[in-house]
Amino acid sequence: AKPVIVAIDGPSGTGKSSTSKAVAAQLGLSYLDTGAQYRAITWWMVNNGIDTDDPSAVAAVTGKPEIVSGTDPKSPTITVDGVDVAGPIREQDVTSRVSAVSAVPEVRTRITELQRTIASAAVTGIVVEGRDIGTTVLPGADLKIFLTASPEARAARRSGELKGADLNTTREALIRRDAADSGRKTSPLAKAGDAVEVDTTELTLQQVVECVVTLVEEKR
Ligand code: C5P
Repeated sequence: AKPVIVAIDGPSGTGKSSTSKAVAAQLGLSYLDTGAQYRAITWWMVNNGIDTDDPSAVAAVTGKPEIVSGTDPKSPTITVDGVDVAGPIREQDVTSRVSAVSAVPEVRTRITELQRTIASAAVTGIVVEGRDIGTTVLPGADLKIFLTASPEARAARRSGELKGADLNTTREALIRRDAADSGRKTSPLAKAGDAVEVDTTELTLQQVVECVVTLVEEKR
């Protein structure tokens, strides 16, 4: 069978990562967390003293770090210049800067190329999660899902995952980040015209996974 490409987009805290990993594992597909790639390049910028609020400073060094993603849904990995950054990329200092870095066109061009290379190498297929996968990175995907959830549900899910933040702070930071991601010029967070929208507010993870798996099977 030909490889199946699944794009899963949506704002933070809608269950994209958990859903994407579970769907990929269940169907024997690879998995790519594109948010982790943007976080990884942001982590490198922070670590190297680059002013992340200065787009030209960011653009000038965009090609420097080597970012490698491991695509096994059961144990995805992310390294920068050979260093495992899975932990540090979830810290507040990276989370608060990632939207500014990912809005820089040079960054998007580079990371998008990486994503397309990884997707085209997946033998059975791949589940790719992010913000612009269905619209920009893989517009020819076999299935496009757009996950949504209420801001309250999203903040509650995220504060369970992130260290050192209360619910209100998390909720406000999340709304700010989504606004920045949706409002940027280059490849904003958006639902593709042919994406299936799934509101996860009232659904369990298992229900969302089942729904997406069924949709993938219909396409195969
Ligand atoms: O998914 P996650 O919350 O880890 O993504 C972190 C950030 O990376 C997003 O807030 C967004 O700024 C950026 N991102 C993006 N395009 C993607 C995936 C993530 O701009 N495809």
